[in-house]
Amino acid sequence: MVRYFRRGRASSWSELLRSDPFSVEDVRRSARRRLPRPVFDFVEGGADDEVTLGANRAAFRQLALRPRRLAGIAHPDLSTTVLGMPVRTPVLLSPIGLARLMSRDGELAVARAATHHGTIYAVPTMSTVRMETVRAGCSGPLWFQLTPWRDNELIARLVRRAATAGYTALVVTVDVPVVGKRERDLRHGFRVPPRPSLRTAHHFALRPAWSRRSRTEPPLAYENLADGPPLLADHARYINDRLANPGASWEDLKRIRTMWDGPIVLKGVMTAEDAERALECGMQGILVSNHGGRQLDTELATLDALPAVLEAVRNRAEVYLDGGVRRGSDVVKALALGARACFVGRPYMYGLAHNGQDGVSLVLDLLRAEIETTMTLAGRAGVADLDASLLTAAAVAIGDRP
Ligand SMILES: Cc1cc2nc3c(=O)[nH]c(=O)nc-3n(C[C@H](O)[C@H](O)[C@H](O)COP(=O)(O)O)c2cc1C
Repeated sequence: MVRYFRRGRASSWSELLRSDPFSVEDVRRSARRRLPRPVFDFVEGGADDEVTLGANRAAFRQLALRPRRLAGIAHPDLSTTVLGMPVRTPVLLSPIGLARLMSRDGELAVARAATHHGTIYAVPTMSTVRMETVRAGCSGPLWFQLTPWRDNELIARLVRRAATAGYTALVVTVDVPVVGKRERDLRHGFRVPPRPSLRTAHHFALRPAWSRRSRTEPPLAYENLADGPPLLADHARYINDRLANPGASWEDLKRIRTMWDGPIVLKGVMTAEDAERALECGMQGILVSNHGGRQLDTELATLDALPAVLEAVRNRAEVYLDGGVRRGSDVVKALALGARACFVGRPYMYGLAHNGQDGVSLVLDLLRAEIETTMTLAGRAGVADLDASLLTAAAVAIGDRP
């Protein structure tokens, strides 16, 4: 029993009565029980009315699967390649800043879990562990995420550091010319590092283990940025005032292209027109993403934006998707439409809050097992066999009652 507590599997007696997580949703609930509400909401929330946040999930329910029976598939092959690198599953890890909010080792724990699973993690600029430390702490391939900030010198420095450290690809995020309006954070007065205020003290008091950890561990900072944030900075205001570049254009992307010899993935593309421009700028990969519904509210769900981007790209670059992927069947559907791989964001952050590196591993295990089961039940032998014949539009969203 004592060992159960020590291994971090349970933080209270009531926790012992709960079963292990069987799904990403179970891991999400565990994260919600462990994190103070303002911290959980920072990860969970979207922009404005969170319409796009919900649409990302709903889009998967509008697509139904058409299984083929008696296909004799004992062990479906989940392996594939991304940008020529082999991965054991078509699930990669999206860049998410401030991972140490979730658990002690933050981005380092995520990178180690990715290596363990034979997949790739895109380490964010807004990491709370230095990119060199993350790189040195695991052996698998890592990509580095960059935003075209207003300071060209800063961009050049980050690109040089990523190359020297041994990152194999750049992910350039283009959907944050300014930070979206995230009302959960505004209501809580979300700060980095988070501190209780009169309005939020009870949320922190209800999560003593998290609060103890945040008092005893080194303070949270944006470790890749030399000056770091002023203490108790408003995260969104810090980015808007000091980093973000509303004037960013395709010229900035071309400049980044000249700084980096390896492949670049453009993250945040949602239209055929932008996919075309991305190819003109020499991108090798396109990540269809709306930043998990945190930026422009009421833009399309990523699954709905995917077909037009694929049609524009016509195999001239690899196309990936993130946003709302929570089940193995979601990954199978995106791949059947033509995506090369999916990325997940919040799911691994929930895992990190649930149980550090082991929690991230758990999420990857759950998704892998679900993909395997889905492919077996659908009668598909491997990732290469996933095509549009597996899909049909659902008359009503799967799971909704007419
Ligand atoms: C808390 C949080 C922080 C994020 N930070 C970044 C970031 O620093 N850079 C970036 O390119 N995307 C960032 N994203 C977007 C993710 O990379 C990804 O696009 C999104 O989480 C995918 O949706 P999902 O969470 O539904 O899987 C962030 C997302 C969340 C939830």
